[in-house]
Parts: sequence; C-alpha cells; structure tokens
Amino acid sequence: MANVVVVGAQWGDEGKGKIVDWLSERSDVIARFQGGHNAGHTLVIDGKVYKLNALPSGVVRGGKLSVIGNGVVLDPWHLVEEIAKIREQGVDISPETLMIAENTPLILPIHGELDRAREEAASKGTKIGTTGRGIGPAYEDKVGRRSVRVADLGDAATLEARVDRALQHHDPLRKGLGIEPIDRDALIAQLQEIAPEILQYAAPVWKVLGDKRKAGKRILFEGAQGALLDIDFGTYPFVTSSNVIAGQAATGVGVGPGAINYVLGIVKAYTTRVGEGPFPTELDDENGQRLGERGREFGTVTGRQRRCGWFDAALVRQTCATSGVKGIALTKLDVLDGFETLRICTGYELDGERLDYLPTAAEQQARCTPVYEDMPGWSESTEGARRWVDLPANAIKYVRRVEELIDCPVAMLSTSPEREDTILVTDPFAD
Ligand code: IMP
Repeated sequence: MANVVVVGAQWGDEGKGKIVDWLSERSDVIARFQGGHNAGHTLVIDGKVYKLNALPSGVVRGGKLSVIGNGVVLDPWHLVEEIAKIREQGVDISPETLMIAENTPLILPIHGELDRAREEAASKGTKIGTTGRGIGPAYEDKVGRRSVRVADLGDAATLEARVDRALQHHDPLRKGLGIEPIDRDALIAQLQEIAPEILQYAAPVWKVLGDKRKAGKRILFEGAQGALLDIDFGTYPFVTSSNVIAGQAATGVGVGPGAINYVLGIVKAYTTRVGEGPFPTELDDENGQRLGERGREFGTVTGRQRRCGWFDAALVRQTCATSGVKGIALTKLDVLDGFETLRICTGYELDGERLDYLPTAAEQQARCTPVYEDMPGWSESTEGARRWVDLPANAIKYVRRVEELIDCPVAMLSTSPEREDTILVTDPFAD
C-alpha cells in the first residue's frame, strides 16, 4: 500500500494545508513527524475554517487515525487547548482518533521562556526570528538527554527525577539571562495536573503504525515548516531545530525508510520567508509588496508579515534532491496573475563563477547574486482553473519551465484555496 510524505520545499507556508487535507481524505492514518506548535495549518472544509498547530490535519476528517510522532516536540498545555477549540467546532477527538507517541519529548514553559529571552538578548544579525514557542530549547533538551517525555508523566518518581535533571541544566542558563529560578514544585504540579489529559492518547506509535501497515492501511506523513528550515540542510543557523526533510518521516514515527513510497513537495509559485536569514531573491520593491498583498502573506502563528521574492528554482532543485521529491504540488499560481514579466532564479554568481546551488558557508551565501531568467507574464486570471486548457499559454510555459529547472514534475497544481480548484496530474497514492 502506498504511503505518502508531504514536505514543504521552501521556507514553509507553501500552502500545505489544502493539499494535506485533499490527501488525508484518501488516507487511513495521518502522522506528524517533526516540529511542534510553531506550525500553522489552515484547513477550509465546506466553508468552515480550522486552524491547527500541533494536531495532524487528519483530525478534522472523521474515521481517520491521527498520530503525533516522537519526532515532534509537544507542548501539552497548548495541545489540550487546541483540542478543546477544535472540539467546539464539532470535531470528535478521542483516544481512538488521536495517538501520541510515548517517546515524544515535551515542551515545558521554561523552553518558551528561554527561546524568547535569547531572542530578546540577541544582537542584530544573530536574532533568528523564532516563533517564540520553545521549539529550539525543547529539541536541545532532547539531544541533551534531559527531556521530560510523554511516558514519564505516568510515574511520579520518574517525573520528579526528569524535572530535576532538566532544572540542573536550565537554572544556570536562566541566571545568565536574568530570568528567575524555576519553581520546581509548581512545575511538577502543573505536569501532574495535565498528565491524565495527555496519557489517555499515549501509545507505542511505532507498533501501531507497523500493525496498520500489515493491515494494508495508507499512511500520510504530514510535514511542517519547509526544507530550507531543516536543521542540517536549511540556511543554518536561521532554521528551525528539527529535520524537516522527508527522511525524518521514518525516524519521526518509527517506521523503516522502505515505508515511504512517494514524496510530494509543496512549492509556492514564488518565494516567501518569515523570520531572519538569507533570501537571495527577496524583493524590497513594489513587486515584493504586490506578491505579499495578492498572496495575503502574513504568518498564521505570529501574524508577522512574510518577506516575498521571485521563484528560486536553484533552491527548490536542492530541496527536491535532499527530500527525494517525486512530484510537486505547485500552489498560489494565481498570485502571479497580472505581472508583465516574471523572474526565475536559476543559480547564483559568486566571484565571477556560476553556481547551480546555494553554497553552505554563510559568508559565501551573503555574496551570491541570483542569476535570473525572465519570462513573460499573463494578464488573464488563473484563479480557480481546474484544467490545463483554462490556463493562459504563458502560465503553462511558466509551470513547464519551473518543472525543467527544478528537475521534478508537477503532480498537482493549485489555483485557489478551494479544494476543487486543483489540476491533478498524478495521484501520489496511485503512483
Ligand atoms: P522556531 O521553529 O520557532 O524555532 O523558528 C525558527 C525559524 O523557523 C524562524 O525563522 C521561524 O519564522 C521559522 N518557522 C518556524 N515554523 C514555521 C512555519 O510553520 N512556517 C514558516 N516558518 C516557520
């Protein structure tokens, strides 16, 4: 049975929500494998808007199993609030429809405090522009072997020992940043209070998914953020603290790499980025402003205005390679309607030499200038197109050129937030 991984192939906010919803309707299990509530996924179903951060998108579709894998960092208080909000919208969430891996590390209030304090203390050029939700510090504790994990909530003595281990590390750090020491007993009491709410969903996810696979069930692995924010292959250090690329889907839930049949990369027809860091094709002119306005480019988690720029084919070619993307879903093509000329970045120039990828060294990245190819735009509207024949010839030429330059075919083309406004070329589950 085919299993599909969906990853963002730029800096996040590529419009994954609509595509994931379309695919989750065709899946039995929907699993989140990295990130946390720094993600903001908006789903529009029958005119109703659902906003999700930590919950997998499958929860809004009845009859599916949604899974939060061990690759995620989980803020238990945020999750309980998110569940309550989504229940108010009539969505049924129970231990039959939601499972959380027992080995998932928790985000504690101390992580959010540390994240925000560090950002405030950072000097210009070192600020990352995080979502302030404690993601980085929680992952640091995971690899530092001092996380409180979901399973630890089940035993008072273990929980206390885990908290003490974390405090041993955090108190000196907090002192250095001028934050008050942690109230140990209050933190333990808070965790004990939330424990039953989380433990009811706790499960050995690796085992459950293994059984589902044996039973021939389809799994959709739902990525958050985008591959250019990957901790290894992104624009380090201006990245998130998890592996975002498709290989993480396996380790982030506990299945073998052979469980993944198809990787779908979500790609916006232009480029955006929230937060700090390099962005070679960024536009500071009226074209950038126009992309932001037409594309409604504001962050769903922080409300920050997104930086906008031309399509960077060199970067997407890179992310398609590191994630093994088989096909892309190209989104927001309609935002490009009405531009006289469209520019596509095909590579960079550095010290008089032409590069077909972005070098890793920050100093070199800063000196790279994009090499552009210009394409004629189109004046007609592509919004809501459902067939290739509905698209202007120049829009088709643009899409075809994108495919050539990124060395990956378009599997789906999305022309509005409405789920029906999609041209399907390849069904990832059938491929
Ligand atoms: P963090 O994940 O909160 O640590 O933030 C690190 C970087 O990733 C910042 O530039 C954030 O703006 C960016 N980021 C985190 N989550 C998302 C997302 O879901 N969409 C887009 N950018 C994100």
